[in-house]
Amino acid sequence: MFPRHTLISLVILQLWTNWIASALEQQTFFPSAVPLAVRTPTSNCWLNTTNGSNPMTTWPTFWNDQHILGWAGYIKVDGLTYRWLGAPGPGNSSTWIETQVTPTQTILTVQAGPMQLNVTFLSPIEPSDWGRQSFPFSYVYLDGTATDGKPHSVQLYSDISGEWVTNSPSTGIQWSTTKTSNTVFHQVGSTKPTSVFEDVAEDSVAYYAISSGYPDLVSIVGTDQGLRAQFATQGEGFTLTSDLAGQIGNVRGSDGKFPVLAHAMDLGNTTSITLIAWAVGVARDPIVTFSGVLRRAYYWSQYATIGDAIDAFMVDFPKARTRALALDQKILQDARAISQNYADLVSLSARQAMAGFEITLSTFPNGSFDFSDVKAFMKDVGNSQRVNPVEVIYAALPAYMYLDPNITGALLDPLLEYQNSSNYTNTYAAPDLGGPFPTAPGDPTNLNAVYGIEDSGNMLILVLAHARSTGDRTLIGKYYNLLKQWADYLVSNALIPGNQYSADARDGILVQSHANLTNLALKGIIGIQAMAEVSQIMGQGADAQDYMASATSLMQSWVNLASISGHLRWTYDESTSGLMYNLLADKLLQLNLVPASVYTAESMTLSDNQVQGPFGFPLSSDNTSAARSDWTLFSAAAAPDNTTRDLLITAVRNHASSNLTGGIFPTLYDVQTGLVQAAPNTFASPAQGAMFSVLALNVANQTIVVPASSTTRGASPAGSNGSKAKSHTGAIVGGVIAGIAALLLFGVVVIFLNRRARKDRNANDEFEAPRPYQNPVTEHDGTAVGPQPSRTFGSSIPSSKTILITQGKFSPGPLPATSQPASAHQLSSSGRRSSLSRVTDDLRSEVERLRQEFQQLRADQSIPLDAPPGYQ
Ligand SMILES: *[C@@H]1O[C@H](CO)[C@@H](O)[C@H](O)[C@H]1NC(C)=O
Ligand SMILES: *[C@@H]1O[C@H](CO)[C@@H](O)[C@H](O)[C@H]1NC(C)=O
Ligand SMILES: *[C@@H]1O[C@H](CO)[C@@H](O)[C@H](O)[C@H]1NC(C)=O
Ligand SMILES: *[C@@H]1O[C@H](CO)[C@@H](O)[C@H](O)[C@H]1NC(C)=O
Ligand SMILES: *[C@@H]1O[C@H](CO)[C@@H](O)[C@H](O)[C@H]1NC(C)=O
Ligand SMILES: *[C@@H]1O[C@H](CO)[C@@H](O)[C@H](O)[C@H]1NC(C)=O
Ligand SMILES: *[C@@H]1O[C@H](CO)[C@@H](O)[C@H](O)[C@H]1NC(C)=O
Ligand SMILES: *[C@@H]1O[C@H](CO)[C@@H](O)[C@H](O)[C@H]1NC(C)=O
Ligand SMILES: *[C@@H]1O[C@H](CO)[C@@H](O)[C@H](O)[C@H]1NC(C)=O
Ligand SMILES: *[C@@H]1O[C@H](CO)[C@@H](O)[C@H](O)[C@H]1NC(C)=O
Repeated sequence: MFPRHTLISLVILQLWTNWIASALEQQTFFPSAVPLAVRTPTSNCWLNTTNGSNPMTTWPTFWNDQHILGWAGYIKVDGLTYRWLGAPGPGNSSTWIETQVTPTQTILTVQAGPMQLNVTFLSPIEPSDWGRQSFPFSYVYLDGTATDGKPHSVQLYSDISGEWVTNSPSTGIQWSTTKTSNTVFHQVGSTKPTSVFEDVAEDSVAYYAISSGYPDLVSIVGTDQGLRAQFATQGEGFTLTSDLAGQIGNVRGSDGKFPVLAHAMDLGNTTSITLIAWAVGVARDPIVTFSGVLRRAYYWSQYATIGDAIDAFMVDFPKARTRALALDQKILQDARAISQNYADLVSLSARQAMAGFEITLSTFPNGSFDFSDVKAFMKDVGNSQRVNPVEVIYAALPAYMYLDPNITGALLDPLLEYQNSSNYTNTYAAPDLGGPFPTAPGDPTNLNAVYGIEDSGNMLILVLAHARSTGDRTLIGKYYNLLKQWADYLVSNALIPGNQYSADARDGILVQSHANLTNLALKGIIGIQAMAEVSQIMGQGADAQDYMASATSLMQSWVNLASISGHLRWTYDESTSGLMYNLLADKLLQLNLVPASVYTAESMTLSDNQVQGPFGFPLSSDNTSAARSDWTLFSAAAAPDNTTRDLLITAVRNHASSNLTGGIFPTLYDVQTGLVQAAPNTFASPAQGAMFSVLALNVANQTIVVPASSTTRGASPAGSNGSKAKSHTGAIVGGVIAGIAALLLFGVVVIFLNRRARKDRNANDEFEAPRPYQNPVTEHDGTAVGPQPSRTFGSSIPSSKTILITQGKFSPGPLPATSQPASAHQLSSSGRRSSLSRVTDDLRSEVERLRQEFQQLRADQSIPLDAPPGYQ
């Protein structure tokens, strides 16, 4: 007869044992590095898992795989010490069993004497919660069970060093320890912080935190040799005393010892360890200066002190973990519908893509935050110090579309604002905001003309993807004329790129010695069609018509120039072939611009490709070594058949799972050997967000609503889940709206009568296909239409047009013969709408147009604005 609690223990143990046997899936995916704490470009810690290394004897490193970030973890079981993180020190290594990677977590399963541990590194991904997403902290937590079922005396210890905040061991550092209501945390920073850094951010502060509720918790700063040895050698239990005087020293002292910030605890006799969590973070404040304004991370708007933020993060751990598990499950379920190989790629890339940028807010002079001014800043991690590199945002777009489409808008916002200012005069889009990160001075040089098609095409594709996936048309409304200018540039230049480069030239070894790149021309032409859609959304019917006609005509010319006996060539002048990865933009945006025959030809070109290496397809057949994982996944998602799709996915997955060649999930590698080049090494680039390409195809259109800051507040179309109503209380706006209201009454009557008349003329037209464009369609022959660099207010916004908004969706305008009709659902739902509601909708768009003209006017006159709808 057992005592009741022993029985319960036995039952639990039995469950544990069964669970261990069943739940521990065999590792099948072997990346050469795994993410540990990966939240931002500077809070970015990895573990090298190249073949031959032992995760239990390897120091974590910064994303460059060079700079060690001292981070040690020990468990003592019955007086014997085992290390679960870091290189040899006192005690034994745990026996590493396996490593699993999910989108938010890396789990090292290890055996430490009689205890089996899961050491889980959780870097949260928090879609739609920018306070949480911007907080540069990660958790590491332990779960464990005694494999012999018996209770054991267990103590835990973990520390970090000053290497997290400096590049040189001789740098001076200072540290301190703070206790908040629920948390104890250490912090360490340079004694001479500098915002000029290439590697680890030397203006950052690293934090190591733990919940203060644990029994016998000891939080202490001492030297690595001192504290770790004390913990390891004192038998069961421990007493830690610091061998450091003061709160200042060097990363490595003259005695060779590193000051470390440690938390340790005694769990007593136990058969299991459950969810013991530390939190590690690297924070910078401010994040960047942009346009002369200091910008801070978004989370600062929610907490008075870093202590409050850390406290909240620590208290939130159980819920954060639940959210992470749910997100993992959703992503993995979606990805496994394609294949397990695909799920592996998505798992390895998710944290990398979401750690590519910082989400920031500006402050008012009184220190309060301007929530209408959310901007995100990406660092070109793995390649350069460029800020908001447009081609990387383009590559990462699929991840942002799937995980949190508003991110795209926050990244585009500063690019658009800068290029709309007088500081930028080129007629094509800029490649970035300059650099080196974290300075974002802008990039006005006309040397970027060689990337004019690349960047202009990217920007137009990105703004439309953002509007569609969020339902937010604020950006395209605010910068409409700028976007038009880029589209006009593309109309003149896209078809014959001549000596322009694609983004791939930035990789050094891929410098294009070839003129007239077909894939580049394709991007430019798709960009024009994207502009047609933008124009349509904005109710600029004549523009939409013009761009659509140009894109259609240029597309036809492109097909003729690029096709060669059922295949596609890489340049107009040669018979080489390559990954026509920009097709994804046509498919992602459902533009239906590119004829199906082109997709088929690309698929044939790939399947006939003789140059495939063990790790996939070279970007083009004229350079048989270089492969790009991001563009390969773009091509996979664009493939018209699953065979080609899966072939491409498998190739990239083979490389990602080959731990024989090192590197932190690089985008560029040798397709034959799998080796990465030295510099740029393309490690840890957010461009790996491209792994989400196949999933992004299923991201639903959001209803694009007229921002509720116009007069339609509270009357957004049914089913709308786009921009939230947000009040503009500015006196000027009020006055104008009052004026508009008077005009509207008149307008209702005019439009209504107008429509009635038209309807009568089209009596057979069941859904009354609207002909919103009043300008006659001019057929473009694809020849140059001069760019229109004018940014003068109103000059290119045609006067009053009517446009039909049905259920918040924009109905199709008159489409060129090659375009697809809109879905039957859209047509019939519009058909059922009453004349009156159409009139209301017309009014709505009229008002919106006026509002935008007015906003533009105010912007041009620098009248302080009320907040347009933000992203928060
Ligand atoms: C331990 O890790 C395995 C995968 O390696 C996982 O299936 C299991 O759920 C983890 N256990 C706990 C308690 O988190
Ligand atoms: C490297 O991959 C092989 C399988 O290809 C695996 O057996 C080995 O454990 C991996 N090494 C590490 C450190 O993950
Ligand atoms: C991987 O590492 C193990 C352990 O060091 C070694 O025995 C094996 O030969 C390595 N595999 C390859 C293919 O290099
Ligand atoms: C990663 O680990 C492998 C195996 O220990 C080693 O050869 C390689 O140099 C490491 N990478 C770096 C950048 O240290
Ligand atoms: C743990 O168990 C051992 C052996 O049963 C015992 O000697 C020791 O006193 C226990 N320690 C605690 C803290 O209960
Ligand atoms: C334009 O340049 C001026 C002078 O360098 C600078 O002060 C300002 O912040 C810049 N504006 C933008 C939007 O980048
Ligand atoms: C292609 O794969 C998708 C997702 O795995 C699946 O839904 C679809 O049915 C497949 N198509 C064909 C033709 O097999
Ligand atoms: C690009 O192609 C066009 C049309 O085929 C041709 O006229 C032009 O010479 C080519 N440009 C270069 C630099 O080869
Ligand atoms: C998304 O919107 C575009 C433009 O309105 C339309 O062509 C496309 O069919 C829509 N896709 C879905 C899935 O609704
Ligand atoms: C995106 O931003 C809009 C406008 O602030 C907001 O209404 C919407 O909820 C956000 N969507 C997500 C998914 O965060």
